[in-house]
Amino acid sequence: MKIMEICGAKELTGTIRISGAKNATVALIPAAILTDEEATICNIPEITDTEALCDILEALNVDVKRASESIIINPENMQNIEIEEKFSKKLRASYYFMGALLGKYKKASMYFPGGCSIGARPIDLHLKGFEALGAKVTNEGNKYIVEAEDLKGANIYLDFASVGATINIMLAAVRARGTTVIDNAAKEPEIVNVATFLNNMGAKITGAGTSTIKIVGVDHLGKCFHEVIPDRIEAGTYIIIGALCGKPLKVDNIIPEHVDALLSKLDEIGVDMEIGADYVVVSKPEKYKATSLKTAVYPGFATDLQQPFTVLLTQSNGKSKVTETIWENRFMHIPYLNSLGADISVKNQTATIMGPHKLVGTEVVATDLRAGAAMVAAALLAEGKTTITNVEHILRGYEHIVEKLTEVGAKIEIKEI
Ligand code: UD1
Repeated sequence: MKIMEICGAKELTGTIRISGAKNATVALIPAAILTDEEATICNIPEITDTEALCDILEALNVDVKRASESIIINPENMQNIEIEEKFSKKLRASYYFMGALLGKYKKASMYFPGGCSIGARPIDLHLKGFEALGAKVTNEGNKYIVEAEDLKGANIYLDFASVGATINIMLAAVRARGTTVIDNAAKEPEIVNVATFLNNMGAKITGAGTSTIKIVGVDHLGKCFHEVIPDRIEAGTYIIIGALCGKPLKVDNIIPEHVDALLSKLDEIGVDMEIGADYVVVSKPEKYKATSLKTAVYPGFATDLQQPFTVLLTQSNGKSKVTETIWENRFMHIPYLNSLGADISVKNQTATIMGPHKLVGTEVVATDLRAGAAMVAAALLAEGKTTITNVEHILRGYEHIVEKLTEVGAKIEIKEI
């Protein structure tokens, strides 16, 4: 088992360079099997989710070559075999193989995906989309078989603008016959990145980044080269850490527009920032004002940044409120923040945070990926030593986190116990 130890209350100075986006990467890797040739993707983050998806590719007999930050995927000798539970349970996004395999072979067989326990996380919208394209879905225990005699374009309205369903339907539809229109599609930048990748291979997708996406099916997808966008959630996490401990901290290689909602909130609570074309420099202010926020789909305040942002609000003067609207189980970090000295109560889907309260190191748990990021942020702020367990969650999404934070002055290490 791995634990993370952080000795907090240190000023952080220097530059943190942001890696490729996890949530784009986890869709791009399965999407790559849709080509009949070779796909090269660069700026791939070295995180355990990437490894888990490469394991699935190899199980499907896809040729995978890794070289520092890039990956070359060649599905020439691929076999469409069932994806075993030991592979699919490692991450939620393994479900993108359903759409990609269905799109390429008209059949996918895999076990229900795993991932963070932040809510019920149904995949009904994905499956309804596949059915609309002509597929039959059979569910045996936690195994799903999705198959179609013929995949035909359709008009699909999503009851909720789900990121996963939008991408999965896009993957299934690129090689379907005719035109698919997804209405109330999710607009997250990762969707645009995946659509660009597919278009580079020869797909005909328009409207990605808006709530209506049109996909005209094609017979063949070819060779391509693609770059993963910077990770807006990793960027947001380090910007929040900068607002807690920066003296100053530069968060580099980002697309500031992708974290607009966060930057507005930081400005509102009194955090000093310099916003450049591809960076943000952030410093800890004298004091922070309280605020209220609600998570929302993009371009609203990202649910994935809600947990780290809560840490910042423990330092605000007065009462702040955070309402979670996307996931029903995303306050698991709160008891641990309270054990570090915060004063937070949760009722229904709203956390009420009273501040400011000094945080003091203790033993805490990373209950999920972004709760883990919140624990790191809190531990960097807290006086004394904090020990974080279940660190595996954090390593699923933050590339070289120990090295990046050490470089700017943090005392942080991972130990195997
Ligand atoms: C993606 C992100 C995750 C982020 C989330 C919301 C990836 C790999 N993960 O997750 O980090 O927190 O977007 O921004 O990109 N829903 C249904 N039925 C479905 C699908 C979703 O009811 O078939 C519900 C979910 O339970 C949830 C909401 O829709 O309440 C949002 O889910 P969705 O946008 O699909 O999130 P993910 O794609 O799983």
